[in-house]
This record gives sequence, structure tokens and C-alpha cells, in this order.
Amino acid sequence: MKLKAFLTTTVAAAVFGLAAQAQTVGFSQIGSESGWRAAETTLTKQQAEERGIDLKFSDAQQKQENQIAAIRSFIAQGVDAILLAPVVATGWDSVLEEAKEAEIPVILLDRQVDSSDDLYLTAVGSDLVHEGKVAGEWLANEVGDEPCRVVELQGTTGSSPAIDRKAGFEEGIKGHANIEIVRSQTGDFTRSMGKEVMESFLQAENGGQDICALYAHNDDMAVGAIQAIKEAGLKPGSDILIVSIDAVPDIFKAMADGEANATVELTPNMAGPAFDALKAFWDNGTAPEKFIQTESKLYTPADDPAGEYEKRKDLGY
Ligand code: AHR
Repeated sequence: MKLKAFLTTTVAAAVFGLAAQAQTVGFSQIGSESGWRAAETTLTKQQAEERGIDLKFSDAQQKQENQIAAIRSFIAQGVDAILLAPVVATGWDSVLEEAKEAEIPVILLDRQVDSSDDLYLTAVGSDLVHEGKVAGEWLANEVGDEPCRVVELQGTTGSSPAIDRKAGFEEGIKGHANIEIVRSQTGDFTRSMGKEVMESFLQAENGGQDICALYAHNDDMAVGAIQAIKEAGLKPGSDILIVSIDAVPDIFKAMADGEANATVELTPNMAGPAFDALKAFWDNGTAPEKFIQTESKLYTPADDPAGEYEKRKDLGY
């Protein structure tokens, strides 16, 4: 570069801050256990790109130790912030203290931890108990006074959505003595385990004849279970009611085909609100609320499932 051009660029950079580096954000993602998780990853990358943020992505393949190692590596690299979707709720104190010591703000995405909230800047997510409650209330309303034996597919053991969605559902059916959870087991939020565990439920429950409804902590497990129910010669959606959480395209497809009955939406765009909070924090030190809550909307076949499928099918799920 010629001297004059160099000086002009340097002065402009100094005056307008053009020389400032793009902010770097480390993202410790759980893995890719579900369609919802894949969409969250896609949207986080998109949101970062749109905002000129340099995103360092790390896939923990469902292991907390990988997440802890990734956070330590982000700290060593001196990132400007860390996004963490914590696979389980416990065991984060030390590494969050290390980030705090290094003055790197941490934002939790979609799941909660049991650490003190002064170890992170904010948490973006839904009210997970409420989601379960909405699902339970939907079922209570649907079956009325009819006896209903429910099987439950739980999420990853020790994760906040598994704990809270279970508690919320139980709250939703409270006072309805006709509704009983007869079997409950983890399906680890995956389609394959959802199918496998549902097969064992069907076997144990008179080939499925004794099951009135399935409550799955996410849609992927429900989709796997739907397959198992069909293979057992029953009709999901009518012989066995299906209620789950996430609102991924495939559950709308199942709903449009009469094979699923209700889902509670969890938006995969957790990164948008997280980056907005970080911008305000970086710009003028504004500390966000400790919890930035996203919406939880109930969808049933009355909500144009085929249209919902079309709207979502290309969004990275
Ligand atoms: O933490 C959110 C949950 O994790 C989603 O409901 C589920 O699909 C995912 O894997």
C-alpha cells in the first residue's frame, strides 16, 4: 500500500474505530441429538454471521467433560463472550468461576444450571416447567373423565428440560385422578432411543392396548415412538394420543397425517436475544435480566400443521 493510502486508512481506522476486531464468541453446543438442536446450531451460526461476530463452534457430543474443555479453551483464546447450552444442570461451578475470573461473560442457552446466577450474564430459554404443564393440561382437557394410562419418554437424565418438563406435566395433570403415568424412562432426546424405549413400553403394556397416551419431552422421541406404535399395528394419534415439545417440522408432518396430537413450541432462535444482550453489554455495560424468556405456544391439528411444516422445513431442523 502506498504511504498516503496507508496513512488515510490508519487515520480513518483510528477515528471511526474501523480497526476494531470483530467480537469473538465461543459456543459450546451439546451435540446434535435432535432436529431442534440442529436448528439452534444453524440459527446461531446465521445470527453470528449477520452481526459480524466471529463464532468459534464446539460440538460436545453430549459430554459435559467436552463442554468444560471447550470453555477452558475459549478462555485461553481470550474470546469476548461464551455461549453455553449445558447438557446437564450440575457440575458447572468451577469452569464458570474460571470464566468470571477471566472477565468473559457467559450466556446460557436453552437449558439451566444449578450454579449461582452471578456466574453468568444471563440465560436465554423458555419456562421449561410451563411447557410440561401446557402439555399436561392439554391431555387432561382432551381425555376429560376417561381413564388414561400415560407412558412418558424423558429427556437426557440430569438435564434441566428433563427435570422441569416432567415436573410441569405432573402439575398439569394434578387433580385428574383418571390420568396416571404408568411408565417413565429416558429416551435421551433422540429419535432412535424414543423408538427403542417405546417398543419396550408397548411390550410391557399389552402390546400397547393398555396405553392411552404418550408424553415425550421432545418431538424427536415422539417421532421415533410413532414409528414403534405403527410397527406394533396401532394407530398413533388415535389409539395412542401423542403430546410432545419443540414444534419441529416432522411433528407437524405427523400431525397433518393424523399421527400426533399436540406439541409445545420451543424456538430454536436463542442466539438472537443472546447476541442482543451481549451487544448492549459490550456497548455500554448494560446488564440484562438474569432470564430472557422465550415463548411456549401450543399447537394442535387445528393450527394448520401442513402449513406449519412448510414454514419450518427449510430452517435448519
Ligand atoms: O434443551 C432443549 C431440548 O434439547 C429440546 O427440547 C430438545 O429437542 C433438545 O435436544
